[in-house]
Amino acid sequence: MRVLGIETSCDETAASVVALDDGRPQILSNVVLSQIEDHAAFGGVVPEIAARAHVEALDGIVEAALSEAGIALEEIDAVAATGGPGLVGGLIVGLMTAKALAAAAGKPLQAINHLEGHALTARLTDGIDFPYLLLLVSGGHTQIVLVRGVDRYERWATTIDDALGEAFDKTAKLIGLPYPGGPNVEKEAKKGDANRFVFPRPMKGEARPDFSFSGLKTAVRQAATAIAPLGEQDIADICASFQAAIAETLEERVGRSLVRFHGEFPDVARPSLVVAGGVAANAAVRATLEQLCARHGFAFIAPPLNLCTDNAAMIAWAAIEHISAGLAEPDAMHFSPRSRWPLDEAAAPLVGSGRRGAKA
Ligand code: KG4
Ligand code: ZN
Repeated sequence: MRVLGIETSCDETAASVVALDDGRPQILSNVVLSQIEDHAAFGGVVPEIAARAHVEALDGIVEAALSEAGIALEEIDAVAATGGPGLVGGLIVGLMTAKALAAAAGKPLQAINHLEGHALTARLTDGIDFPYLLLLVSGGHTQIVLVRGVDRYERWATTIDDALGEAFDKTAKLIGLPYPGGPNVEKEAKKGDANRFVFPRPMKGEARPDFSFSGLKTAVRQAATAIAPLGEQDIADICASFQAAIAETLEERVGRSLVRFHGEFPDVARPSLVVAGGVAANAAVRATLEQLCARHGFAFIAPPLNLCTDNAAMIAWAAIEHISAGLAEPDAMHFSPRSRWPLDEAAAPLVGSGRRGAKA
C-alpha cells in the first residue's frame, strides 16, 4: 500500500509518500517547506499569508514528494490530506488539492485529523502497541491523550489557557527575542542562571491533571519590567528560570497521568509515553520527560524531530492505519475542512482541546 499525504494546516506546506509492505512501514519521501520566514516579521503566523503561500507551493511540493519516492500518481493507492484542526484557508488548499488529485487518478481520499497524525507517528517510527500515552506540546496544543487504538482517543489533560509553545513564543516576544521564540529561549537559557528568578509552577499540586501557562508569562513580564532595560545576562537568566519552571511543571503535571495509566492498565508492563509537537525539540523538556519516564517505568518515545513537528508523513501514515483497521472513510470527497476537530469529541471544549489557530 502506498499513500500520498498532504499537510497544510498551519505554516508548513508538506507532502509525503508512505508505504506499507508486509506490515513494514517505510517513508518513501517526506518534503516540508516551512513558511517561518514569511511570518517572522509579524511575530506569528498570519492566516492569509499562510493560505497564499500554500497555494503557491503545494503543487511543487507534491511533485517533489512523488519524484523522490520514485512513483507516479497512478501507482498511489490513496490520497490523504489534513482535514483539520487548523487555519481554515490552509486546510482548504490542501484538501481541494487532494480531492483533485484523487479524482484525477481515480483513487480514494482520506481526510485526516492532524492531531491523529501526531498521535500515531510513534507506531510508524517505533512500532509501539496500543494503548499508550501521548504528550502533544506544540504552538497550538498542550494535551495528554490516551491512545487506545485507531480512532479511539481519550483526552486526559489539556491547557486551560495558553499552549506550551505559545508560552515560549510570548515569553520570547516580551524580552525581545525573535519569532519563533521556543528555539531562541532555549539557546539563551543555556547561558543563564536558572535560580535567579523564581517563577510560578502553575497548577502544581492540583488534583486535576490539566496545564496552565498564562500566569507564568505574566510573572516573566513583571520580572522583566522590574529590571528593565534588560541586558544580555538578564535575558539569559530569565530564559533559564522560565525553562526551569516549565520543566518542573511538566514533570509534576505529566507524572499524574503516568500514575493514572498504571492504575487503569496494570497489565501493561512497560507502557510508552510518546512526545510530539515543536516543543519536543527542547532538550531540557526532553531530559525532564526522560527522567520522569524512567522513574515511572515508562518507555520514553520521542520520534525524530522532523516527524515530531508538522509533516505529511504522519498524515499518510494515519490514513494507512485507518485503511488497515478497516476504518477508511467511505466518502471523503464531501469532507469540509474543520478549524476545530478534537481527537476526543466527548471531552469538554477547553482551549487547546482541538483548535489550532494563529500563534501570534
Ligand atoms: O509543532 P510545531 O512545529 O507547530 C505547531 O504549533 O503545530 O510547534 C511550534 C512551536 C512553537 O511555539 C515553537 O516556539 C515551539 O514549538 N518550539 C520550541 C522549540 N522549538 C520549537 N519550544 C521550545 N524549545 C524549542 N527548542
Ligand atoms: Zn502539529
